[in-house]
Amino acid sequence: MSKLWGGRFTKKTDQLVEEYTASIYFDKELAREDILGSMAHVKMLGKCGILPAGDVETILEGLKKVAAKIERGEVEFTVANEDIHMNIEKMLIEEIGPVGGKLHTGRSRNDQVALDMHLYLREQVLHLVKGLYKVQKALIHQAKLHLDTILPGYTHLQRAQPVLLAHHLMAYVSMFQRDIERYMDGWKRINVLPLGAGALAGTTFPIDREYVAQLLRFKGVYYNSMDAVSDRDFIVEFLSTSSLLMAHLSRLSEELILWSSNEFNFIELDDAFCTGSSIMPQKKNPDVAELVRGKTGRVYGHLVGMLTVLKSLPLAYNKDMQEDKEGMFDTVKTLHGALTLYASMIETMTVKKENMLQAVKQDFSNATDLADYLVNKGMPFREAHEVVGKTVLYCIQQNKYLLDLSLDEYKEFSSLFEQDIYEALAIEQVVNARDVLGGTAKSQVEKQIAWMEEQMAVTQSWIDTTTEQITIHFF
Ligand code: ARG
Repeated sequence: MSKLWGGRFTKKTDQLVEEYTASIYFDKELAREDILGSMAHVKMLGKCGILPAGDVETILEGLKKVAAKIERGEVEFTVANEDIHMNIEKMLIEEIGPVGGKLHTGRSRNDQVALDMHLYLREQVLHLVKGLYKVQKALIHQAKLHLDTILPGYTHLQRAQPVLLAHHLMAYVSMFQRDIERYMDGWKRINVLPLGAGALAGTTFPIDREYVAQLLRFKGVYYNSMDAVSDRDFIVEFLSTSSLLMAHLSRLSEELILWSSNEFNFIELDDAFCTGSSIMPQKKNPDVAELVRGKTGRVYGHLVGMLTVLKSLPLAYNKDMQEDKEGMFDTVKTLHGALTLYASMIETMTVKKENMLQAVKQDFSNATDLADYLVNKGMPFREAHEVVGKTVLYCIQQNKYLLDLSLDEYKEFSSLFEQDIYEALAIEQVVNARDVLGGTAKSQVEKQIAWMEEQMAVTQSWIDTTTEQITIHFF
């Protein structure tokens, strides 16, 4: 069969051009969305009296048959039909005859493809939020188990002040919460119908866009047809939120990798989430965490790629925009894989509490507390900093830690030191003394977890209502 747009042409398309310009290799991913969109469109054409009821029925039945064939893997998409839209339209015409050619009345592939992408991303973002929520759950599960586990907190990767492991893990839960909120906010801008914009200027047929929006359960419609077919902001936003999420996952990955090294020896990842070496029999490598860290690059790349495609594009549709898909699909898959694995990997990791504590005992991370002690006795902080700096230097020279010094040794540095210094420097005390909102004291971390669980309840109800809200019953 000839091309759906072949009328104006006298020559066959060059084979290489056909292959180069086709998008069916990747947009076949949108088959389901394309058919759903077509079903809503044809129902509307019937309702508005643009097509007779009989034709509408025939087309709907035909689309259902095509959908079933695709589902069963019985169809072969062809490059000759360029993209998913024309492949499906051709299949429809083969299925029901020339009446299938009426489906494209009052629409263009430009608004059709935009619709498919909105339908696709609307659902995928929901799945990603669900996946991220599960990662948060796994982190909170570990946080609750480790409300008494203390490890060094770092700045510059140098031991700084001891913190609860629960506190450290909850920092990631907070980052993921913001990622979820960004996804949920961007979702509002995905949930808008572009169909009805036609090629760019609208259509001469008396269509009812609001009815299509209602059928496909969109909250609103694009009010400018040129914007509707040109807008890819919603994809940029998605890629941007996803890039930041990957940055967060990559930071967490880096810590899991460091912590499972012999040098730290703070955690052990479950065997099921690690791989071995083909030559070194002793190796157990944290490959999943490494790959998540590594895959961050491709997601950033997709964001920059999309922004660059859009830069300088004149209104309205340009073929450049076909480049919006692969990066988006790849980002969805990359994140879906990372989130699924992360939830179980965190859930099953073993924490080596004793090693963490040992690390805290062998450092000077209670030095700030020593300075605070002097401040509480009336010394200005700057002066106290100097005194403690000298005390630490003395310890290093003597190969001791702060808790090893005698009171006489302390008195050499300041007469304000008294016996109660040992209590002030005790590790639990150092942690629990940070009893301010957002601090690492156990009581504060417990409050933090409770607060976060309230936020997560909001996410859960968003997931439930959104799932309900976007369910389309066409089949
Ligand atoms: N395959 C195209 C894309 O993904 C569909 C829209 C084509 N529109 C056109 N005017 N050639 O962008």
